[in-house]
Amino acid sequence: MAATAVKGYMTPTEVAISQEHTTWAEQQDIQNRTSVNDLVKVLDSSVKLPYVASRSLPTPPRTTPQSVCSYDEEHPALSAQVHDKSVHALIQEIITQKAQVQADETEDESAFFACDLSAIYQSFLEWKASPIGDRVEIFYATKCNPSPQVLHLLSLLGTSFDCASMSEINAVLSLPSAPSPDRIIFANPCKPASFVKNAAQKGVKMMTFDNADELYKIKRIYPTAKLVLRILTDDSKSLCRLGLKFGAPLATCPGLLSLAKQLGLDVIGVSFHVGSGCKDPMQFADAVWRARKVFDMGKSAGYEFNLLDIGGGFERETFQEMTQVLSDSFDLYFPEDSGVRIIAEPGRFMVSSAFTLATSIIASRRAQQPTGDVVPGSIEEEEEKTEGAADVMYYINDGVYGSFNCIMFDHQIVHPHPLTISGDLMKTEPPFPPLPNVAVEVDLPIQMGYKDTEKASVWGPTCDSIDCVRQLVDMPKGMDIGDWVGWTEMGAYTLCAASTFNGFDRSPVHWTTGNQDKQESKFVKRLLEEFNSTSLR
Ligand SMILES: Cc1ncc(COP(=O)(O)O)c(C=O)c1O
Repeated sequence: MAATAVKGYMTPTEVAISQEHTTWAEQQDIQNRTSVNDLVKVLDSSVKLPYVASRSLPTPPRTTPQSVCSYDEEHPALSAQVHDKSVHALIQEIITQKAQVQADETEDESAFFACDLSAIYQSFLEWKASPIGDRVEIFYATKCNPSPQVLHLLSLLGTSFDCASMSEINAVLSLPSAPSPDRIIFANPCKPASFVKNAAQKGVKMMTFDNADELYKIKRIYPTAKLVLRILTDDSKSLCRLGLKFGAPLATCPGLLSLAKQLGLDVIGVSFHVGSGCKDPMQFADAVWRARKVFDMGKSAGYEFNLLDIGGGFERETFQEMTQVLSDSFDLYFPEDSGVRIIAEPGRFMVSSAFTLATSIIASRRAQQPTGDVVPGSIEEEEEKTEGAADVMYYINDGVYGSFNCIMFDHQIVHPHPLTISGDLMKTEPPFPPLPNVAVEVDLPIQMGYKDTEKASVWGPTCDSIDCVRQLVDMPKGMDIGDWVGWTEMGAYTLCAASTFNGFDRSPVHWTTGNQDKQESKFVKRLLEEFNSTSLR
């Protein structure tokens, strides 16, 4: 586009040109394409479309190449094979195939994910059926799981996106079902200048800030951006306390807003994030109250805010309570007739349950029974202590440097279940929705009905002793090298932050639209197929 020829930062005029260009491209698109909601209606006339946000027009997916990013027939969202069976059946099929390969002596015991895309659609429907579903638009937190297939499905469903970086913005805008740039919020209050410039070039206008320096930076690079003030709220009951890093304390907001006004910047609203893995729904009530205060400060500074962004932090176990608390808070502080548009940035809630990881046991070690009296202070006594109460140590082929980084970064407690025992496939499926990744009194295998269990510790494949996936968990007896262990609830903050430390590959994902006995699975299958058929391209 014209503005890319400019050296250094774009001037306001150049930004305006780039925006004009986007607007023109959007207009072309709107004329040329069928709306995704039309598609949804065609697929299932009984769908009530509860997910059409009542106060803003959802933008349909692009069906023509976008000038800012190249459309690629081989886009991974389209090229990956998508099965149509349950995750359990898919995992069993893959394990069986791998076992057959092993018989030919080219062993393939590598770990893999299986994702049921219909589980993402279920989360989406759950959101829409919640007390805030009609009012609050989803801007999916891309960082949580940026797999192209996930982004593609969500875009087709009409959700918008929270992006934290230039790459995330580019990934979303490069989707075959790419949303228009106004369906993206650049929700990172501290952005590299080059990322702000990229946002300007791509026409992504909404972005957050929480400090004066960011205002000067945006003034210099993208003065027509639509700014959202990220405020500090109570996140003391959340697993990941984002307030330690981001968020303007209330006391600093009047100063920031008056600086923004002096700089001639357009502040359109307020955002917050109560912290990821929020355990206390009342944190949302407090945050909405604080946002109201800052809306009032905005008025005093000469602004008329119209956007409230309530961030992420949603979890399935507390979802009903949280959304009820939010709905009540909106009634008090942002009633429908206030005209305030409300958006949210859920990540974990949307994708966590859709992904199951299958790992295989690559080595094991049984606690040795002491042969005689253990002398106090001896090496034997030390060994007994370090092995703890585990009867057996299992070493699996994914660990905390890989997909289980969620244990270190995201404070998750993950739950294993047997997929095979002594090479035999297990029929019993883990529950859905899965056990949450928190401490439980009764381990999953026992909950699933396995009676003859022993204490196991489970370790990742690297040479680091920090690479411990579970210190102590009840596992069925009889598991051995070559057996497979499943881990549900593995879609959030897992594969996206995995490293290849020690030379271990990241676990690939196999996709399915789920068991076709379920309405949601049928719907997702048809939605993807309809998109793939040329009618919408
Ligand atoms: C700005 C922002 N929005 C949304 C999210 C998503 O949070 P969650 O996955 O807890 O819903 C995060 C997570 O870190 C975030 O930083």
